[in-house]
Formats: sequence, structure tokens, C-alpha cells
Amino acid sequence: MLELIAQYQVEIAQFQSVKADEIEQFRIKYLGTKGLLKTLFEDFKNVPNDQKKEVGQKLNELKNEATEKVKTLQEALESQKSEQGLFGDLTRPGYPIEIGSRHPISIVKNKIVEIFNRIGYVVSEGPEIEDDWHNFTALNLPEYHPARDMQDTFFIEKSTDVAKDMLLRTHTSSVQVRYMDTHRPPIRTISPGRVYRNEDISARSHCLFHQVEGLYIDQNVSFADLKQTLIYFTTEMFGKSKIRMRPSYFPFTEPSAEVDIYWGLETETDYRITKGTGWLEIMGCGMVDPNVLKNANIDPEIFSGFAFGMGIERIAMLLYQIPDIRMFYENDVNFLKQFKSVI
Ligand code: PHE
Repeated sequence: MLELIAQYQVEIAQFQSVKADEIEQFRIKYLGTKGLLKTLFEDFKNVPNDQKKEVGQKLNELKNEATEKVKTLQEALESQKSEQGLFGDLTRPGYPIEIGSRHPISIVKNKIVEIFNRIGYVVSEGPEIEDDWHNFTALNLPEYHPARDMQDTFFIEKSTDVAKDMLLRTHTSSVQVRYMDTHRPPIRTISPGRVYRNEDISARSHCLFHQVEGLYIDQNVSFADLKQTLIYFTTEMFGKSKIRMRPSYFPFTEPSAEVDIYWGLETETDYRITKGTGWLEIMGCGMVDPNVLKNANIDPEIFSGFAFGMGIERIAMLLYQIPDIRMFYENDVNFLKQFKSVI
């Protein structure tokens, strides 16, 4: 028996493991209810009386060693676990790299730009901080023109002399004025960009938003060309070609119109967003006012043109059924993540 005890002692001393199930098996093997020690203790009654003292001591030693071993191994395991919590399992494969997504405003802007690129329009951009001339005066809105009230403006510098006023542009028509300064007809340009208006923030309107405005100037450009261009656009953009033009007023175009697209009345949402009419207003447009051409030193006797402008947010809200314009500017990742699959 003493030999057996000595053999077990060696085995126990040599045993090493950092795996929970191996340690548990080891415990069961030696200390379990049917374990090796149990058998030894049962055999103890057969030990001759004169050896009982020595064997008994050795047996107790063995039991202590086994218990101690299990305890140290379990402690080591525990501390390894908490380290893992700290560093993670360094052998694990890396997390999948999350692919970012484009902002819905960019997606819609890119789509509009691409549609007009295809028929020869080039992108033009200009400053968001604008002077009075490019935002108002050159566009046929002289100082006391009542239409200046149509666009409540953020002025950066307001003086008694309007020519010195600086402001945040209220539309990207200002970019087209700049484009006409540096280009001669034929002109085909679209100007996407951010614009600012001093409006109350609500689900429908914001003090900043984005526009795409278009300008086409050449000889013999007619209202029919404008309408055809818009039909091309709505077909490409929405897959819908039925539009109507309602007379409207803009100081820089004459005649002017507002464009409605026939959205349909197929679903409940169609009813809601079109207020039961099936029609949706999507942009303003018109034939460039001769005064605007004159201001740009383009002879209105020779050249004519059309212009149009639309709000990108409005179109994105339509396409993606976004109920509140403020969602575009909150940068809530859960909102933005939804546009992942769109390029
Ligand atoms: N600039 C106008 C606006 O901001 C839109 C527009 C552009 C209308 C060009 C007609 C022609 O509302």
C-alpha cells in the first residue's frame, strides 16, 4: 500500500493542466466518491495493526496533496479567465471590419448629379458664405424687392448698403450666377450644395438643408426643352414620368412653375404623403429671366435658358420614407446604418 501511495504522490505532483474539464477529471479520479483515495481508505482496515500508524499518516499526506493540487489548479484557471476578460482571447480571429455607409443625402445627391451628368450637365460649386450680389441682386431681386422676404436670411454682415451684405446662401442659384461670370453659353450645369434659411426647426423644415439647382442656357432653349428634361429626370430618378407644372413665381425666372410628380395612390403611404391627391411637389423651375442674363452679360436677344431647383432632403424623405428631416443631421448610427447596401 505504501508503494501505491508513493506512486500516486508522484502522479499528483506531476499533473498539470489549465483546462477545467481535465482538472475536474483529475479531482474525480483521486478525490471523487469512487476515487482512488476512497479505495485506499477502504483498504486501510486490512493494513496490519503495526503498520497502521505509518500508512495512516501517508494516506493523510496524499489526501492533502491531492486536495491542495486541485485547489491551486482551479485558482490558476480562475485567474486566467479574468485575464481573458481583460485582453480577450488573443488567438481568436479578428472582428469583421464594419463597412461604413454613405449618408442618405449624399446617396440622393450623387444619384441626381449622375442623372444630369449623363445629358451633359457639369457640376459647379460655390461658397456657402455669399455676398448680396450673387445670392439676391444678380438674380433679379433688388434691394427692396418683396421676394427677399420669401427667404428669411442669416446675415453675417448687414449694412445700410446692401452691396456690402454678407450672408449664408439661401439657395444654390448663387453658384449659377458665379458660373455665368466665368462661362459663356452653351451652359449646362448643376449645383449641389448646402443652403441656409432662418426657419423654425420642425419635422418638415430645418434651418439648413441641401439643394441641387440646374441651369441650361443656349440659343433657342424653350419651355418644352425644360419640360422634357424634367420628364427625363423624374423617369430616371423615380421611375415615374407623369408630371404637371403649376404656374408659380420666382424673381429669377419668367415664366415660373412648380413641378408636381404623379406618385400614385396605390398604397396607404401614397395617400398619406400625397394628402390623398396622388400628386407631390418636387421642385421649382422656369425660364431664366432676361434680367438675370443681362446681369451676367449674356444677350437675352440671342440666348435663352431654363433653371430648376430642388431640395435633396425632400427627395430623400420620399424615397426612403423618412418621417422627420431632423434625422438627417443627428448622426444616429442606427439611422445611418440602414443605408449600408446603397452606393
Ligand atoms: N432657387 C429656388 C429656391 O431656392 C428654386 C428655383 C431654382 C426655382 C431655379 C426656379 C428656378 O426655392
